[in-house]
Amino acid sequence: MCGIVGYIGTKRAYPILIKGLKRLEYRGYDSAGVAMISDSGELNVYKAKGKVDNLTEYCSDKDVSGCVGIAHTRWATHGEPSARNAHPHYSRSHNLAIIHNGIIENYADIKTKLQDKGVEFKSDTDTEVLVQLVEYVMVKKNLSLLEAVQVALHQVIGAYAIAIVDKRDPRQIIAARKQSPLVVGIGQDEFFLGSDASPIIDYTDKVVYLEDGNIAVIRLGEEMRVMSILGEEQELQVKTVDIDLGQIEKGGYEHFMLKEIFEQPECLMNCMRGRINVEGTHVTLSAMIDYRQQLLGAKRIVIVACGTSWHAGLIGKQLIESLCRIPCEVEYASEFRYRNPVVTKDDVVIAISQSGETADTLAAIQLAKQQGAFIFGICNAIGSSIPRATDTGTYIHVGPEIGVASTKAFTGQVTVLSMLALCLAKERQTVDDALYQQMVVELTRIPEKMQQALKTNEQIERLAPIFTYARNCLYLGRGYNYPVALEGALKLKEISYIHAEGYPAAEMKHGPIALIDSEMPVFVIATRDRLYEKVISNIQEVRARGGRVTAIVTEGDTQIQKFADHIITLPDTLECFQPLIASIPLQLLAYHIAVCKGKDVDRPRNLAKSVTVE
Ligand code: M6R
Repeated sequence: MCGIVGYIGTKRAYPILIKGLKRLEYRGYDSAGVAMISDSGELNVYKAKGKVDNLTEYCSDKDVSGCVGIAHTRWATHGEPSARNAHPHYSRSHNLAIIHNGIIENYADIKTKLQDKGVEFKSDTDTEVLVQLVEYVMVKKNLSLLEAVQVALHQVIGAYAIAIVDKRDPRQIIAARKQSPLVVGIGQDEFFLGSDASPIIDYTDKVVYLEDGNIAVIRLGEEMRVMSILGEEQELQVKTVDIDLGQIEKGGYEHFMLKEIFEQPECLMNCMRGRINVEGTHVTLSAMIDYRQQLLGAKRIVIVACGTSWHAGLIGKQLIESLCRIPCEVEYASEFRYRNPVVTKDDVVIAISQSGETADTLAAIQLAKQQGAFIFGICNAIGSSIPRATDTGTYIHVGPEIGVASTKAFTGQVTVLSMLALCLAKERQTVDDALYQQMVVELTRIPEKMQQALKTNEQIERLAPIFTYARNCLYLGRGYNYPVALEGALKLKEISYIHAEGYPAAEMKHGPIALIDSEMPVFVIATRDRLYEKVISNIQEVRARGGRVTAIVTEGDTQIQKFADHIITLPDTLECFQPLIASIPLQLLAYHIAVCKGKDVDRPRNLAKSVTVE
């Protein structure tokens, strides 16, 4: 999704802006641009379709002087990906330039009104409408830039994070946010802007996370001011960020995705650290201590999430229902928010999100809050919007996830859901002590078992070329492994562009079986659990129709090799933790198939890391 960078200070803005854009590349984008107020006072805007490198090439013979600028990576919503539609956008006079993340929903109305007043537009974007509106009210009502931004933001409906510069006042950047993240970094005689802290942390660890509906007035030589759209001054809340730069670099791996797959054992140890005691006998979540009454009072749990986080939610449902005996529903946040759901004050809503910025999940939280539910967040990005919108929650602490295809966040989410279910079950006395102990101990062993599972990498790399020809793939699993099948299929789709479907193995005979032939690879998660024998029958159904089966099995399995073309062997664990192990070969499989096909694994086409529009 779009990325924002800004700089104002005493250094050259251009290299800082470009470096910042590169840091934000992981969010996904299709064009990039910069605007700088040059040493001679010109407002120069340069834009290019495609990668940031195209932009730097375009700028190579341009005037990139100046110590104030804003820059943007765009992920198209209104108007095709092109240099014309890329940000920044000039106002009509070329005095102002704006960058914007989000969507202005009533842009068409405003545009028509401005066109009636003679304003001409150069792009198809909703963003240009905003800058033209700001300039229009500025001129018409003789307002300052700040006042004009306040008036304009009153008129727009939608989501935004914006930054605006005015060449007549090169010592100032005005920024604002609503439902789209924006961070201001505070340095020595300089300020930085970012959609998240990653473009800022090279220069300062002091940041202000702008709150919804607030405007930041960033003026060189003065303390930054934050105010509401109505102009009420807000207290400046400066936080210290703690992101290790090494965490967002590739660390010797060819792609971020591979690095993140291999990081999982360590990530899960970080996720459990301080929550499971060193003896491995007890789980404590601080949220459970602070909000015991609200959490134990839940008559129902509703999980809202999107994509991979939704798949983690499906595993959470099984854990919560079987261990805690609390009814649990899992909803796509995008559906939940629009279908007038029944939510009561006896509900606990769990919102799961890696980025903490997913627009639909945020909207689902707002809706559930309005209806009195207690909201628990499971997020990765510290200080992002969802943890701030929830009543309490637990961070997964797996570090920045850069690859667009989520891997370590998924296993982190499942780990937090496991710990939450264990805590709740223990408090509610719905789990007997022996099982509780066994589960806690087993959870602490998962990182070591993941290391073993990662040893399948070479085998999977060798297998991958066989599947590059496929146009469709089927992933089958049952019970806890059904969401693993969904997640395996999603990973393959996202980065290799091969169509794939995940299915509960027994449902296959109710339709998808018609698709099976020797051209269709079928991946079956057939680890040893309650439904093992039944999954063997499902494999036989595939084989009987000429299907080619690759089975993920538990070590020591001797049966399935009789029916499968390929076997991938994993260490044994409790049924409920199998997703943590079984998802690894499927992540690796998607990765190696995509690499074989020459795809851009970390930045797949059309996808964004952080989906801040609905
Ligand atoms: O940041 P979130 O977890 O809220 O994101 C939700 C989905 O957009 C995300 O999981 C998406 O499906 C990933 N690309 C999956 O790999």
